[in-house]
Amino acid sequence: MTIESDDELRALRRIGRIVALTMNAMAREMRPGMTTLELDEIGRDLLNAHGAKSAPKVTYGFPGYTCISVNDEAAHGIPSKRRIKTGDLVNIDVSAELEGFFGDTGGSFACGAISSTAQALCDATREALNDGIAAATAGNPLSAIGRAVETRAKRRGFRIIRNLAGHGIGRKLHEAPSVPSTYDPRDRQKLREGLVMTIEPFLSTRATIVEEAKDGWTLRTPDGSLAAQYEHTMVITKGAPILLTVE
Ligand code: CO
Ligand code: CO
Repeated sequence: MTIESDDELRALRRIGRIVALTMNAMAREMRPGMTTLELDEIGRDLLNAHGAKSAPKVTYGFPGYTCISVNDEAAHGIPSKRRIKTGDLVNIDVSAELEGFFGDTGGSFACGAISSTAQALCDATREALNDGIAAATAGNPLSAIGRAVETRAKRRGFRIIRNLAGHGIGRKLHEAPSVPSTYDPRDRQKLREGLVMTIEPFLSTRATIVEEAKDGWTLRTPDGSLAAQYEHTMVITKGAPILLTVE
């Protein structure tokens, strides 16, 4: 959506804050030995306490309140009896709806000490998100975001998962435009003031795509390589974007 009033901005800030505090609390509470289902229940309770509804559940019938994806799983992992262990890289993605508005955030979090490669992957992915945000200015080509993200990934020696992208958001979880994390010079779209969208680069140690698992939801790297993602929902302005998914 494109914002047309301060009321819309305020409502988007409310749901943005709720998904951010939910993801942050889940990351804080994560412990070795905990199941991903138990972690999801923390998210469920926080969303409920704020009157927000899980977006993947209401939009797609996802079997969980949040998406929890471990190691080679990049996205859409189903909360289950799987136990999180020390050294796991756990992606928590929280999207939800309040008062007809949607917010979406995600991040990869270490359970205890992780490998230096996993840490470097997380650092590079966070930097790639920040570079993408810095390129997200009204009047700039949409492709400037993918160009910035891709440049950072290459410089850090990691690959981009090409079949996952950011997206417009606001009145629905997924709206136009698609916001690729790779550079497409043929894409002529320009970013317009007031556009609400996410940037969410997925970087991997080796893989350039993800595949759907037999459960019909989980997206994992075909070769077992690690994946990381960080995501913010934002509003495009003539200057720096307004980040909505912050506490
Ligand atoms: Co998300
Ligand atoms: Co998203």
